[in-house]
Amino acid sequence: MIHAEPKRTLITAALPYANGPVHIGHLAGCYLPADIYARYLRLCGKETLFVCGSDEHGVAITLKAKKEGITPQQMVDKYHTLMKESFEQFGISFDIYHRTSEKLHAETASDFFKVMYDKGGFIEKTEEQYYDADQKQFLADRYITGTCPRCGNAGAYGDQCEKCGTSLSPKDLINPRSAISGNTPVLKTTSHWYLPLDQLQKTFLNDYINQHKDDWKVNVYGQCKSWLDAGLQPRAITRDLDWGVPVPVKGAEGKVLYVWFDAPIGYVSATKAWCEANGKNWHDYWDKNSGTRLLHFIGKDNIVFHCLIFPAILHAQGEFVLPDNVPANEFLNLEGDKISTSRNWAVWLHEYLHDFPGREDELRYVLTSIAPETKDSDFSWKDYQQRVNSELVSILGNFINRVMVLTWKFFDGKVPAYNAAYHTQDQQYRKELKYGFHVMEEALRHFRFREAQSELINMARLGNKYLAELEPWHLIKTDKEKTASVLHFGLQIAAALSIAGRPFLPKTADKIASLLNLTFDKKLWDVHFFESLEFLGAGHQLNEASILFKPIEDEEVQKQTDRLEQIKKDNESKTATQPTALNAVKTDITYDDFDKIDLRVGKILEAERVPKADKLLKLTVDLGFEKRTILSGIAEYYKPEELVGKLVTVVANLAPRKIRGIESQGMLLMAGNDFGKLYSVGPEQDIEPGSVVK
Ligand code: MF3
Ligand code: ZN
Repeated sequence: MIHAEPKRTLITAALPYANGPVHIGHLAGCYLPADIYARYLRLCGKETLFVCGSDEHGVAITLKAKKEGITPQQMVDKYHTLMKESFEQFGISFDIYHRTSEKLHAETASDFFKVMYDKGGFIEKTEEQYYDADQKQFLADRYITGTCPRCGNAGAYGDQCEKCGTSLSPKDLINPRSAISGNTPVLKTTSHWYLPLDQLQKTFLNDYINQHKDDWKVNVYGQCKSWLDAGLQPRAITRDLDWGVPVPVKGAEGKVLYVWFDAPIGYVSATKAWCEANGKNWHDYWDKNSGTRLLHFIGKDNIVFHCLIFPAILHAQGEFVLPDNVPANEFLNLEGDKISTSRNWAVWLHEYLHDFPGREDELRYVLTSIAPETKDSDFSWKDYQQRVNSELVSILGNFINRVMVLTWKFFDGKVPAYNAAYHTQDQQYRKELKYGFHVMEEALRHFRFREAQSELINMARLGNKYLAELEPWHLIKTDKEKTASVLHFGLQIAAALSIAGRPFLPKTADKIASLLNLTFDKKLWDVHFFESLEFLGAGHQLNEASILFKPIEDEEVQKQTDRLEQIKKDNESKTATQPTALNAVKTDITYDDFDKIDLRVGKILEAERVPKADKLLKLTVDLGFEKRTILSGIAEYYKPEELVGKLVTVVANLAPRKIRGIESQGMLLMAGNDFGKLYSVGPEQDIEPGSVVK
């Protein structure tokens, strides 16, 4: 905890893995709180740097790339771009969004390792590890699955059980299997470098964590404490893999740095990249004595890495600042279930931006209102609609609209003059507004963003109360001067909202400022800023009134809940029928075996649903020499009308089979994965039905 005023604040938000798009759980967990805090500090005129980037190494990436049949680089390129763009569109104000597959990052991580290595900071150990003899690959982390010794989950990974959250090592797994082939692994000798966390606990971590007993969040301190109480063990920080930062030591060919060693160093390389582009010196941000205050915003699954392992690495390296605070959030669930990328159970940011264009602040607002700051919380579409409509639309939007419209109606859109005689009448409101601002600021400083944002709505509520009490729409008939004062003050409240709203709802705040025709200095949030409550002078011309928020309609919510319903169904049918590990390759067959299958091009002539069978379509397929009736379980993937006219590949000599009383005379070839994708396989160009596929 830095007591003196820091020279600058370096804010980091966890680098998301580039193996899937950003979802609302990520946003509520760390990107939104980090963004609100960064915006707040900048408004206060404090030197602030906010860095992030994609985490592009690790087994989560290589495994998924393999599953999709693309290279890891192709995969990270795709998701890096998608994430970068959606963060930007959503208004997360990173100064830089970098990535760990950049050369600058590899150099930075490599240097880091070398300094520690030369100091004797690692222990080299040779041991037996699980190995997939067919695939010729050591099975670290997610390359190995098995049963969790703690909770019995059969799909636990070598580094963690996602069901109970226990962190594991491969040898803890019961009945281990290779995630690549499904094979039972063998043991094979290999050597790796370990970070002696047991020693670092004694020499450094116990004290470091203890120092933060009172200033770190209870959930964060508590988790650290229980790790320390259990006693830390040395941790391998290298792996036998071909994707990652190569271990910069002779004789370490084929080994890379463990992703959790290189990823946090990504914060350093992102800072370097930003400094290079902006003529700054990165040492000013990271040197031990630079006076920088380092803050890591993360989700709770990252606590051990950011509060124990990374600080231990920074300490052992010796030249760097240590994290001053790690305000980690708990998890956000979706409609009562855990968010999951692999089960597609999420609200994806890029899809939200597509489905709700221009409504970024609505999502920001709701996610901050329900942020899992002290315990897990839940997002539901009904609740989203409710909060937007009854808070943003009816309270904030309504207030701004009323003062704007009334000022146009009675005073031609010019700020009317205030008569000091009404100061007493407004006194209570002034007091409450200032108090609200004070509470907001206090909450922001302590990372209580829910509370801070709720003060914003309280201020707007006060504005509405003021108008309801003074009734300028009646008052105008009897007392124009008093009406002028009322609207003058009402407009100051609107201006105050546009300032106070900036960290939370940046686009809305800009919009209010533009309605009010108000431009601000960069640094406008200091202790005195709310004192006068006088931001707009008499005679100042406003812009045209326009609505801030549209209500969220029932149909919009319905569309989203239908989508989730569908995903739930898909997942249920998948878990019933399919394994989740990569499908192992089947046993070899001879060419003669293959040649027994008569594959033909067919053209779909008709397609219809089969009554009472959700998954089946009944197809009439032209095979050139004859027409066939074929039943295919693809109704969840294709609408009948999409299929008519399509060329497909048909197994023409599959023995006929009765399904639901209808004889199916063949089968279509389909390409599918375990994650709900299924496509028909047909010739690349038009060719006559009946053509042989070989
Ligand atoms: N990619 C990790 C995750 O999504 C977070 C990495 S944070 C970093 O859980 F510090 F390592 F970069
Ligand atoms: Zn478990």
